[in-house]
Amino acid sequence: DWTPASFIESTVAELKAQLGNDQVLLGLSGGVDSSVAAVLLHKAIGRNLHCIFVDNGLLRKDEFARVLDSYQHMGLNVKGVDAAERFLEALHGISEPEQKRKAIGKTFIDVFDHEAHLISDVKWLAQGTIYPDVIESVSVNGPSATIKSHHNVGGLPDYMKLKVVEPLKSLFKDEVRRVGTTLGIDPDILNRHPFPGPGLGIRILGEITREKIRILQEADAIFIDGLKSSGLYKEVWQAAVILLPVKSVGVMGDERTYEYVVALRAVGSTDGMTADWSHLPYDFLAKVSNDIINKVKGVNRVVYDISSKPPATIEWE
Ligand code: XMP
Repeated sequence: DWTPASFIESTVAELKAQLGNDQVLLGLSGGVDSSVAAVLLHKAIGRNLHCIFVDNGLLRKDEFARVLDSYQHMGLNVKGVDAAERFLEALHGISEPEQKRKAIGKTFIDVFDHEAHLISDVKWLAQGTIYPDVIESVSVNGPSATIKSHHNVGGLPDYMKLKVVEPLKSLFKDEVRRVGTTLGIDPDILNRHPFPGPGLGIRILGEITREKIRILQEADAIFIDGLKSSGLYKEVWQAAVILLPVKSVGVMGDERTYEYVVALRAVGSTDGMTADWSHLPYDFLAKVSNDIINKVKGVNRVVYDISSKPPATIEWE
C-alpha cells in the first residue's frame, strides 16, 4: 500500500543509489512541488543538493525573503539570487503577454545558467515535475500547451547537458502534499495556491513598471491575507489581483481622483483546465475593496471577475 512514509523511504534509498556522491542542482520556485522535491533530495544526498531560488521581482509582497528564510530553516543548501532588476530591464517596453513570457523565461534561464556554472562539477538537474505535468506536456494539443507557453516542463537549455532527476514524477498533487506534510514542510508552502512562473508579470496588463509592481503587490497582499484571515483561502483553488491598464475617475474628500482599477479573481478548479468563479461573500468582497482603495495609493476602484473558464482563462494574460 502507498503511504507517504513508504514513498519517502523507498525514494530516498533510490536517490542515494542513483546519485551516489554526485552534485545536483535544483531551482526552487516557492511552490509545493519544487519544495517537496528539494527536501526529499536533501534527505538523500544532503549538501550535494544545491538549490537556487531566483527573485524575478514579480513575486508576491515579501515572498522572496519569507520563503528563502523558511528554506534555510529546513536546512537546505540554498542560494537566493536577487535578479529583479534584470527581469525589469528585460521586460522594458514589452506589453504583449507571450512576449512577456518569453522575456521572463529567457532571463530566468540566463540567471539560472550563470548560477549553475558557479557550482563545480554538477552532474544532475533535479525537477519537481509531477505526474499531471508529464501528461500535460505530452498532449501538445491541450489548451494550455497551445494557448499559452507554460515553461515549467522542458525549460532545460540543452547546452547544460545535465542528467535529469524527477523524484515526484509518479505523484498527484494531493500525494505530493501528503509527502510534504510527512517531511515536516511548512503548511504555508504545502497549501499554497498555484502561482504562475511569470508571476505578477502576467497580472499587470500591458507594460510593467516598478510602480505598477508595487501597487499590485500591495493590493494582492490585502486580498490574499483577507482570504486567509477569514478562512476562505482553502475554499478557493487560486486567487489573484489583476492590475488593469485603465484609470477611472473617483472622489476622495473634496478631490477628484484619476487612478488605476484592479480586478479580484478567485476560482474553484481541480486542475486549472476548467474553473468556476468563486462565489465569495459580499461582505468579504466589500471589506477587501475598501481596504485596497483606502490603503493602496494609486487605486480608486475594485471590480470582481465573474467569468468562468472556458471561455475566459484564469489569468488575464
Ligand atoms: P489559465 O490562465 O491558462 O491558467 O487558465 C491555468 C493555470 O496555469 C497557470 N498559468 C501559468 N503557469 N506559467 C506557469 O507556470 C505560465 O505562463 C502560466 N500561465 C498560466 C495559471 O496561474 C493557472 O493556475
